[in-house]
Amino acid sequence: MIDGKLVRIRALRASDLDAHLRWRNDPEVVHWAAGGDPHYGPITRESLERFHDARLRQDPRVEASFTVEDLADGRPIGTADYRDIDPFAGEATVGIVIGERSHWGGGYGSEALRLLLKHLFGACRVRRVELDTWSGNERAMRAFRGAGFVEEGRRRSAVRVGDQWYDRVVYGLLYEEWAERRRGH
Ligand SMILES: CC(C)(COP(=O)(O)OP(=O)(O)OC[C@H]1O[C@@H](n2cnc3c(N)ncnc32)[C@H](O)[C@@H]1OP(=O)(O)O)[C@@H](O)C(=O)NCCC(=O)NCCS
Repeated sequence: MIDGKLVRIRALRASDLDAHLRWRNDPEVVHWAAGGDPHYGPITRESLERFHDARLRQDPRVEASFTVEDLADGRPIGTADYRDIDPFAGEATVGIVIGERSHWGGGYGSEALRLLLKHLFGACRVRRVELDTWSGNERAMRAFRGAGFVEEGRRRSAVRVGDQWYDRVVYGLLYEEWAERRRGH
């Protein structure tokens, strides 16, 4: 469990399923998190249960899912995860989704991302963290840049949103850059 000022990230629980089911069936959340990809949602409880159970059994040496809680009332508001840890290169890929629309634009996702970075760089000693989004998701791109991520490349027209195509924008952050920013703050 890692506490910030607005949120805490903590290990996923079986009881988080209801919140996940709500977020995965909210078209606006699916729009921003996955460009509206119909393979991501809507989803039934039965299907989600299988993924949820698998997530509860994840090996944290490789991947882990955290629940983001609002510190004000302890309610789950989203997820933060890492996956594909490469122990040799010291690399990890992360993802962040605030599922409660009421909490968008309030700094909750940005702080959750910073807490996840603290865990990966500080405790797990990874050297490099990567993440991506689609080029229409201005809020996500700003949040990533605000956390120190640098745009490293674009997979052009890789994301379909409705009948339009957007770039997949890939961001990276190195341990040295993260540590330097922390010294500056
Ligand atoms: C993307 C997300 C993690 C950002 O977290 P957040 O806490 O809501 O973002 P913040 O409030 O810290 O705002 C981040 C930046 O976006 C800006 N912003 C806020 N709302 C915005 C909006 N509607 N449009 C564009 N920019 C916006 C903020 O001003 C801030 O920019 P700045 O630091 O340059 O001033 C969160 O909104 C979210 O999970 N959204 C839904 C799913 C998603 O998009 N996931 C990530 C993509 S995979």
